[in-house]
Amino acid sequence: MTKLGVNIDHVATLRQARRTYEPDPVTAACLADLGGADIITVHLREDRRHIQDRDLRLLKQTVFTKLNLEMSVAPEIVELALAEQPAQVTFVPEKRQEITTEGGLDVVSQKKTLTSLIKRFKERGIVVSLFINPETRQIEVAKEVGAEFVELHTGAYANATTETEQRNLLEKLCRGANLSRELGLRVNAGHGLTYKNVGPVVEEVDAEELHIGHSIISRAVFVGIKKAVEEMKELIYKHSLLAKTDRQS
Ligand code: PXP
Repeated sequence: MTKLGVNIDHVATLRQARRTYEPDPVTAACLADLGGADIITVHLREDRRHIQDRDLRLLKQTVFTKLNLEMSVAPEIVELALAEQPAQVTFVPEKRQEITTEGGLDVVSQKKTLTSLIKRFKERGIVVSLFINPETRQIEVAKEVGAEFVELHTGAYANATTETEQRNLLEKLCRGANLSRELGLRVNAGHGLTYKNVGPVVEEVDAEELHIGHSIISRAVFVGIKKAVEEMKELIYKHSLLAKTDRQS
């Protein structure tokens, strides 16, 4: 079954709004775990706008499922990540002015940097994923630089305004996922996924892990983190089963 990675950055965003100690993302991770999260994801940004170094350190000690760290290639963050040793890192592009991660990583233009970085992470036993748009060249180079996973950017699909556009973008994701698997890459997906649009991604893209933040934490404001995670897990389970039945018939 597709696994659920819960991104808890938004809990830290609320805390940083007052530069105080609550709400604590470490507590959020425990509650997400109780709700069935398979992976806890955080993004330690260079500007530290939400997750702080202390969060990463404590999460490393308290997350017993899988800790996935989203990060840029900035040397300071690279050294921190290598020191903390999360189970997995996902390289993402990072811009100061953006509200959230905008596009996918341009692995083609950063081929040399990524090749040597990935080697260093692999030597420490850290799994590496690259957050990319589902473009042929990006996928091919993701393989060449030695990544184990690609995380296909679902943002364009999530933002589609018509059914036709959504269908076309879903097909593009499927083609990207199939090409990645043919090349021997493992496939994750995420960004902009919600309770309403996750179904077709589960059924058709067939990713190993889906990484979801904003929609889950938004629902959690009203129903609590554990329940919000349980509800997303149920949806993923239902759509994974539907896809399995479809493939068998
Ligand atoms: N995957 C990656 C690589 C991301 O950068 C983000 C946002 O931090 C997500 C998934 C989750 O996106 P959302 O908050 O829209 O669910």
